[in-house]
Order: sequence, then C-alpha cells, then structure tokens
Amino acid sequence: MAEYQRHEHDVLVIGAGGAGLRAAIEAANSGASVGLICKSLLGKAHTVMAEGGVAAALGNVDDRDNWKVHFADTMRGGQYLNNWRMAEIHAKEAPDRVRELEALGAVFDRTADGRILQRNFGGHKYPRLAHVGDRTGLEIIRTLQDHAVHQPIDVHMECTIVSLLKDGSRIAGALGYDRDRGRFKLFAAKAVVLATGGIGRAFSVTSNSWEYTGDGQALAYNAGAALQDMEFVQFHPTGMVWPPSVRGILVTEGVRGEGGILVNKEGRRFMFDDIPENYRGQTADNEEEGWRYTQGDKNARRPPELLTRDHVARAIMNEVRAGRGSPHGGVFLDISWIRAKLSNAEEHIKKKLPSMYHQFKQLADIDITKEPMEVGPTTHYVMGGIRVDGDTQMSTVPGLFAAGEVGAGLHGANRLGGNSLSDLLVFGMRAGKYAAEFAVRQSTPRLDVQQADAIVRAALEPFDRKGGGEGPYQVEHDLQTMMQELVGIVRREDEIRRALDALKTLKERARKVSVAGNREYNPGWHTALDLQNLLTVSEIVARAALERRESRGGHFRDDFPEKDPSFGKFNIVIRRGPNGEVQVTREPIPEMREDLKLIIEENK
Ligand code: FUM
Repeated sequence: MAEYQRHEHDVLVIGAGGAGLRAAIEAANSGASVGLICKSLLGKAHTVMAEGGVAAALGNVDDRDNWKVHFADTMRGGQYLNNWRMAEIHAKEAPDRVRELEALGAVFDRTADGRILQRNFGGHKYPRLAHVGDRTGLEIIRTLQDHAVHQPIDVHMECTIVSLLKDGSRIAGALGYDRDRGRFKLFAAKAVVLATGGIGRAFSVTSNSWEYTGDGQALAYNAGAALQDMEFVQFHPTGMVWPPSVRGILVTEGVRGEGGILVNKEGRRFMFDDIPENYRGQTADNEEEGWRYTQGDKNARRPPELLTRDHVARAIMNEVRAGRGSPHGGVFLDISWIRAKLSNAEEHIKKKLPSMYHQFKQLADIDITKEPMEVGPTTHYVMGGIRVDGDTQMSTVPGLFAAGEVGAGLHGANRLGGNSLSDLLVFGMRAGKYAAEFAVRQSTPRLDVQQADAIVRAALEPFDRKGGGEGPYQVEHDLQTMMQELVGIVRREDEIRRALDALKTLKERARKVSVAGNREYNPGWHTALDLQNLLTVSEIVARAALERRESRGGHFRDDFPEKDPSFGKFNIVIRRGPNGEVQVTREPIPEMREDLKLIIEENK
C-alpha cells in the first residue's frame, strides 16, 4: 500500500486561476470547508493572459449597451452553438461580478467622470471591456488572491492531480502528488470543482504556459463525464512570432481596440478585403471611419481588425500563405500609425498598453510607439470542455463541477475576447455556490484505497522502465508539432486521419517512456504524467474535428469551407466508452426560449 498525506474537504477546487479562486471564495463563504489546488504557485494562471479587459455590459462608455446586446453578441460570436442559458446568465451577472471586484480593490481605468472605463474588442457591439491598461487578468488574479488568502481556504500549492476518485457513481475526491517532493496526496471531498483551464500545450505555438496540459478535461473524461465542443480551439490572431524563443506569447487584442491596424508586407490593410456577411453592416469600409470608431464616435462602424478572432486569424494565415507575410511568418500589427492622428501618441500608447510596450522592448527590441510589431496566430483557448448544467455548473458526474475554460457551453463555436474573464467570475461564483450546496447534502464519501494504490503504481511506472524507453520530452514535442500541423487553424479530413494514426504511435511511445532519478524535483516525471492528458485531449479534439464536416467559428475545414445549417443544431459530445475508446455523439441543442430569440432578432 502506498503512503499518502490525507486531506478532507467539503469542496475541493482543482485549479487556482480566476475561476478556481472565485469558486473557492464562494464555497468558503457558503460555510463549506475548502481545499484549493494549484499546479504551480498561487497567482500564476492563464487568467493573466486575458490582458485587454473583462466584458460586462456596464454601459459606462456607451449607454446603449445592456445585457441583451451582450447576450446577442455572445450568441452571434459563438455561431449559435452556445448554451443559451449560460449566455443569458453570463450577460446578466457579469456587471455585478465586475462591480464586486472593484469593491474588493481592483483598480480599473476610469472615465473622465470617475466610472469604470470600457474599451472596444472584437465582436462586441459597444465598448464593453472594463480594463486595467493591458493587465486586466493580472489585476483580477491579484484582487481575488488577496481576498482568498483571508478566507478559510486550505491552499495546496505545486500539487498535480492525477486522477479523480469516485464512490459508486458520485465523486469522492482526488489523488495527486506534490511536485517538489513527489509525495502522494489523497483528498476526500464531497464535491469537486474543476477549474484547470485549457489545453494549449497540445500545440506547438501557444500563449499557454506549461501548466495547460488539458488536465481537467482528461480527469473529467476519465471519470466518466461528458465533454462537448472540443473541436473548437481558439487561435488568437496576434501572438509574437519573433524571436523564436517568444513565439506564441500573447499580443493583446487591446492593441487593436486602441486603434492598431493589421498590414501585410506590401503595407496594405488586408482586413478590408473580406468582411463576413453577418458583420457587413457593422464594419467600416474605410480607414477614417474605423479610426473614428476607436475614438468613441457612436455613429461610426468598427474597423475590420475588430471582427471575431476566428476570422482575423484566418485572414492573417491567408496573407502568410499567399507570400504577403512579414519576414518571420506573420503580418504587421501597427499602433505607431496613430502618431499621424494624435499629438501625444507615444504617451497614449505607453499609458494604454504598458505591458505590450515593455514586452516588445525587452523581448524583441521593438519600440511599438515607433515601429510595427510582427504577429501571427497563437493557440489561446478551447471553447469546448466539460459539459455542465447551465445554472449550477455540475457536470454529468454527480458532485463534479466545472468552471472557466475547462467548462463548455458559454462560448459555442468561438469566444469573444474579454468573455473569458467574465465567464470565470460568473461561473466560478456559481460553481462554488452550488458545489457547497451539493456538499451539505452528502455524507462523507468512501475512499477506495485499492483504487488509489493502482493509480499510484501506474504513475510510478516511468521509473521502472529503466534504461530503454525514450524520455517524455521528445514525445511531447512530436505531439505538439503534429497537432499544430494536422489539427491546427485549417483542417482537412485526410490530415485529421493522419493525426489519429500519429496519435496511436505517440501513445505507444508514451507507454514506454522512462525517467531517471527519483520523485523529488523531477520535471521529467511530471512531463511523463502530463503527457497522458495531452494525448487524451488531442485525440478528443481530432475526433470531434473529424465529425464536424463544416466550418464554423474556431473550426475551419478546408474540405468543407462553408457553414452547414444542419450542423448548427447540435453539439458534438464526447464520452469515454467501456473499453476506453473515444465515443462521439451528436446531441441536439435545446430549443431557445422565445424571449431570448426575440432579443437576438432585435439585435441583428
Ligand atoms: O487579447 C487579449 O487581451 C485576450 C483576451 C481574452 O482572451 O479574453
């Protein structure tokens, strides 16, 4: 029998970014005993990569904005595959969650009359993103963390969960290990909230840091929960492309919200070339009007750089493929051009985009107040994830909840920028509340130590395969390169099938990887374990992508380049079959309430 450190909580929250912190705070406030697990250190989370703002219809900059417009924008952005109940709750509750953050000490930028300032972002009809320069996610994490550390929450830092535990069909806790000493930890919990973020590390170019290996999606799937919409991966249009060591790092959409334009190597603003049908009436067809929009002219139409991310990312790829890209395989994003418009442009850029200024100065030796940046798409977010009840966030496994990026539904086929931060606040809060309510009604679950021992034995196998197998890094690298090439921004059936074949070989290799040394401070071992999750989510993404024979939102099929209305009626749902196989089904989207249909009609 393995040795364990044992912990017991009413609610165990796995993941300590914005969604996890917000869930833990709410569960603790509801009277539950709460454990909070961070894979790295508290405060280090992909939440900080939502830089440009949090979307909430406060109506501070344009009083025509309200929850209904936000709801309609979110549904249109998600191409109507969204869980409409979540989109409704999100639009209604986001303003309160933002005001609550302010009350907790978040220092938002201000309008001249002292209200929270809001900026433009792609797909949002009105300026809607409350922001703190270009460090909004960071400020949200700082605020929630400062608050959380004063709540009765047990924080388990540098801890990775390798499996969820069940008692019959209900959740019973989780098994993990501390990353520094390699000691196994057994958590008994009446309810578990997954808030582990995304899957970006399944691809080679990503804004995600090392933690985002699809852990929550894989844990839930292995525990029998349904996933949905996993074919929809968001490639943010603007990541750094040069130098190679920083490729993929995010360049906030806030640059375009502040008037930044995209040009190809010929100096042409190619975004004017192809305006999608459903945004045509709202998009400026000339430079002057686009500029006026970014300066707050309510009669002007938005510049084409503020179309939805899926569209902008593909437009950039087309330029690169046509040989009109920048020297290092991207295009140019230029905010320095506003020098022609504003006398204080340099000061303005540094004030509005301080992180971008420093990021480019320090990492690429570029002064963005004077020169354009080189940018290209980067894997940023997965719209799909764990299928949840829209109100409570409970998954299809009793007692297992999900919030933030790891959950699915709100964003449908494509997420609007800034909706991730409001998502994690709104649904983090709800997951914490309903998990605590669920826990109160439960007896203490029974933990099956034999089940735990078997998981530990499997986790330690890489140490037993002495002197033969390859190390995990090469397998991980090959997986990322393969996914980027074959299941990336543009997909085709033959390529996805090649990806599935490659996954079989990669799985074989992963089964044989060996690691040297012992359990203490052993990143090779951590990678060997993370690799299992990456392989699981990669196969799920590929199978879902194969099933959706159309192009919609973040999923573009070169062999089916059009949207097919028949595919707009269902979500692609994934479950683990009895023999461990990936089962793919199409499940109809419930009919939308009439009042919500009307809102969409009115806002078309
Ligand atoms: O571009 C950005 O600042 C990212 C925001 C988001 O993903 O929501």
